[in-house]
Parts: sequence; structure tokens; C-alpha cells
Amino acid sequence: MSTRLDGRHALVTGSTDGIGVAIAHALADEGARVVVSGRNVERGERVAAAIADQGGDARFVAADLSSRAGVQALARSAGTVDILVNNAAMLIPSRPTAEIPEELLDAALATNVKAAFLLTGLLAPAMAARGGGAIVNVGSINGLIGRAHSALYSATKAAVHSLTKSWAAEYGPSGVRVNTVAPGPTLTEKTSQVRELLEQMVQRAPAQRLSTPEEVAAAVVFLAGDGAANIHGSTLSVDGGLAGI
Ligand SMILES: NC(=O)c1ccc[n+]([C@@H]2O[C@H](COP(=O)([O-])OP(=O)(O)OC[C@H]3O[C@@H](n4cnc5c(N)ncnc54)[C@H](OP(=O)(O)O)[C@@H]3O)[C@@H](O)[C@H]2O)c1
Repeated sequence: MSTRLDGRHALVTGSTDGIGVAIAHALADEGARVVVSGRNVERGERVAAAIADQGGDARFVAADLSSRAGVQALARSAGTVDILVNNAAMLIPSRPTAEIPEELLDAALATNVKAAFLLTGLLAPAMAARGGGAIVNVGSINGLIGRAHSALYSATKAAVHSLTKSWAAEYGPSGVRVNTVAPGPTLTEKTSQVRELLEQMVQRAPAQRLSTPEEVAAAVVFLAGDGAANIHGSTLSVDGGLAGI
């Protein structure tokens, strides 16, 4: 266990599954006290217990971020937060725009955009008042490129990228750094169901392989830590070079 983030309080939304689990572990491995969060209590408790088993400091706070009340409850329960990772999101299977029901449109905007917007509004001013902090938004390669049948998901992720820039300008002068990690196709339990499709997507990338959750988490840890002290409003892609070519 290293000590780069010793004594910092981190909140990782969506850390009951997938990439968020790796982010919670990686922050704890660097000495941060981590709040694991998501809707699924069983998975959340399991993640916090696994971190504790490895000598880390973690507790689980159940939260449904699809409503303002859920976001407010999480902000209250989290207490002091020095590092906020806005990671929770609905992944939306590819679908033609005309076939997206309005309920799905509203749900995706609520979870992928509104939740991060509200949570940051609740936590960033307190970070600034304490002298600073770091916010890492998890965006996506889909927010950077155009892809047929991905309009809704991509638009929510592009919004996250835009929020990073606006918040960097808004909160940076008070010491709160805001950056984005933009994963490319990343292998998780959920995405393993569409592994072939993802493998095809990365064939034109220099690395020609999927990202791992641990690789995404390493980028989050970097942007959250003092090594990134003069990095504001940036997007760090972890996609094997897919978005850059
Ligand atoms: N996997 C990829 O290939 C990939 C690529 C690019 C970007 N990303 C981004 O990386 C992040 C993590 O993705 P992932 O693949 O790890 O997704 P995932 O496996 O589906 O995990 C999503 C997490 O978000 C939580 N969540 C979803 N809806 C929620 C809600 N209403 N309230 C509270 N928590 C909620 C889930 O927790 P519960 O189920 O417990 O509610 C879960 O912990 C997302 O921002 C995604 O857009 C992923």
C-alpha cells in the first residue's frame, strides 16, 4: 500500500460494479478513505469489505442517483469529500435514435448528467472552502467521437466532458481541480457480454485491445493526486489510442 493519497476522503459513485470497483480499490491502495456507492447493497458491502480485507479504509453508502433526493442523501452521508469521482452511469445498448423511448432519454440524462451536476454543486463549494480538492469525471470515447446508434449515451458523455471544462474554470481558482478520464471499450463483467463487438471496435486502435478497469483506475488516481497539481480541465483517454487516430 502506498501513501500518495493518505488522509484524503474519496467518494466514488457507481463503485458497486465494473470500473468503479477498480477505482475504489486503487484510491484505497493509495491511502484514501473511500466511500463506495451505488444502489446494490450486497455488491456495495462486498466491495467495501474486500478493500478493508486488503488493509484499506472503505465504507458503503447506498444511493440511487436518478433523483435529486438520492443525490442529496449521498452528499450528506459522504461527509467530508476531498476527491469526488463522478463515475456512475447507465450504459445504453446501441439503438437507433428514433427507437429511444422518452423515458429512457430522461433516465439516461438523470443518471449520467444530472446526478454528477447536482453532486458536484453540493460538494465542490465545500471542497473550495477547505482549500481545494479534486474531481474526476468519467467520460467516454463515445463522448469524443460519432458512432451510429449511440446518440443518447454519447450525448450524455459529451455533456460530462463539457461539464469538466466549465467546472475547471469555475472551481479551479478556488483550488478544486476538475478533469476527465475517457475510457475506451473496457472489459467488465457487463461488457464481456458484448466482448466481440468491443474487440472489433478496438482493432483500428494502436493498442488493438480493450482497456482494463485497473488501467482506467490508474488514470483516475493520477488525476486525483498531487502529481496532477497543475492539470485542470483536461481529458485523459485510456483507450489504446482509439480516439486519437
Ligand atoms: N465499460 C466500458 O467499456 C466503458 C467505456 C467508456 C466509458 N465508460 C464509463 O465508465 C463508467 C463506469 O462504467 P462501467 O462499465 O463500470 O458500468 P457498470 O459496470 O454498468 O457500472 C455502473 C455503476 O454505476 C452505478 N449506477 C448505475 N445507475 C445508478 C443509479 N441510478 N444510482 C446510483 N448508481 C448507479 C451501478 O451501481 P448499482 O448497480 O449498484 O446501482 C454501478 O456501480 C461509466 O461512467 C461509463 O459511462 C465505460
